[in-house]
Amino acid sequence: MPRQWTADLSVGNSEMDGQHRRLFDLALLLWRSAEDPAIDSQATIDAIIDYTYEHFANEERYLRSIGYPGLRDHQRNHGNIFVALDNIINRFADDERRVLVRELSEFVSEWLVRHILHEDMAYGRFVAERRRRTDAGAAGEVSGLERLRQLKSALDEGLITAEDYERRKQDVLERM
Ligand SMILES: [Fe+2]
Ligand SMILES: [Fe+2]
Repeated sequence: MPRQWTADLSVGNSEMDGQHRRLFDLALLLWRSAEDPAIDSQATIDAIIDYTYEHFANEERYLRSIGYPGLRDHQRNHGNIFVALDNIINRFADDERRVLVRELSEFVSEWLVRHILHEDMAYGRFVAERRRRTDAGAAGEVSGLERLRQLKSALDEGLITAEDYERRKQDVLERM
């Protein structure tokens, strides 16, 4: 049986988590279709392909919007997964369908787990770290000068964009 989404797979973004959950649900539905004739396995496979594509596109848009430095590698990973998925599906015509339906549903949940734990969690950490660095002094815990230094190092490490840096710097200067 394919694994299901659990809280330890959260990437800290509710929209992305929701999309991951939906992919796990589809993998489970596909698994069930091997036994339940009421579930259309071909329609479920089509839904998996469509939704995988949609999720990857959404996630890449999100990563671009936050200026994620690992975007290119992440896109390449998505591309590889998409091709691997396609390869399994192309074998459907020849092999025994029930076996393949199970193989495919397990494949989907396994790559999901692996990809989420390694690549997706990495952008979750990136966002969390940036938030920690740039919001630490917002409540007046550190001096304005210290905030400026933190922002500068966040910029140097690529955690924030130049535009973001300018905006936040102005905020700090106004409050000093
Ligand atoms: Fe991803
Ligand atoms: Fe993802």
